[in-house]
Amino acid sequence: MPHHGDIKSDALSFKILGFLSRKDGFVSGEELSQEFSISRQAFWKHIEFLRHLGYEIEARPHYGYKITARPDKLFPFEIQRDLHTKIIGKTMHYYPVLDTTMEKMLFHAQRGAREGTVVITDAQTKGRGRLGRTWVSPKDAGIYFSVLLTPRVAPGEVSKITLLTALAIVEALEHTGDGAFSIKWPNDVFLNDRKIAGILTEIEAEQDLIKFACIGVGINVNAEKSQLPATATSLKAEFGKAMPRAELAARVLEALDEYYREVFLRGEFEKKLDDIKQHLRMLGKPVKIIQHHETIEGTAYDIDTDGALVLRTPYGVIKRILSGDVELAR
Ligand code: BTN
Repeated sequence: MPHHGDIKSDALSFKILGFLSRKDGFVSGEELSQEFSISRQAFWKHIEFLRHLGYEIEARPHYGYKITARPDKLFPFEIQRDLHTKIIGKTMHYYPVLDTTMEKMLFHAQRGAREGTVVITDAQTKGRGRLGRTWVSPKDAGIYFSVLLTPRVAPGEVSKITLLTALAIVEALEHTGDGAFSIKWPNDVFLNDRKIAGILTEIEAEQDLIKFACIGVGINVNAEKSQLPATATSLKAEFGKAMPRAELAARVLEALDEYYREVFLRGEFEKKLDDIKQHLRMLGKPVKIIQHHETIEGTAYDIDTDGALVLRTPYGVIKRILSGDVELAR
């Protein structure tokens, strides 16, 4: 967060913001000076700092102060003020811009960040996709974050978290408009046949146990179509109106927190399989799986209990696919 004037602690600015946010009407200067016991001059600096961040604060003589508009930023303050989670997002690190949240999370993880830590940004200059691709991350137009998870599981288990994350995204976005949301195995979310969100899961593991998983989520919210790759879309492009990003981020984190704790950690992934299959693209369709060294063709037939895609090849052989890129075979 940028520093402003001689304000040493942004924390107090956000406490003042919190106080103002909890009240409906004007808050008098007297009430504020009782609560914070700082000089008028010091108080004014905090108000100026908050305005600098994009908050519109009306100051009316005899009445006091009132927030009249909030910036559309992914500030932890904005996300956490209505976030009901147990693990995810208790600690959040915000950056106005990053190369990628994945690297920054690694930095925090190596310094002992706790499980559930979120790194979130309003723009990425080197957004990372799967298989060496880039994730286009225009400023203030999407939600870009990584979550640190440290379950004591084998690396093979982590693909379940990726699928549960996809389901969490679908669940959180479904209410935003009247469109067809679907999951493309193993890590994409589509809206009306175009990609709206992507998940990148990276792990650090030791033999049979992971040290941590970093789940990266990118969601196209208010981007114009012209800012995105041709195969992608955004909520705004589909539904015609801009959406509050911080609020959506909170809903995604809540759904993810619930699935992680109540499904994954309890070993109950199978209970969500039907939900996942109901949203799955390409089930029952002829597909091509593109892997590093080979392409496998067949009919996408099922998702099995560990999250693998099950294919039936033209010769009737059943194959379990653990990773790769799925395309419709034409
Ligand atoms: C994909 O579709 O290939 C995965 C895209 C994942 C994008 C997100 S945005 C936040 C996080 N940081 C990154 O650099 N990538 C992930």
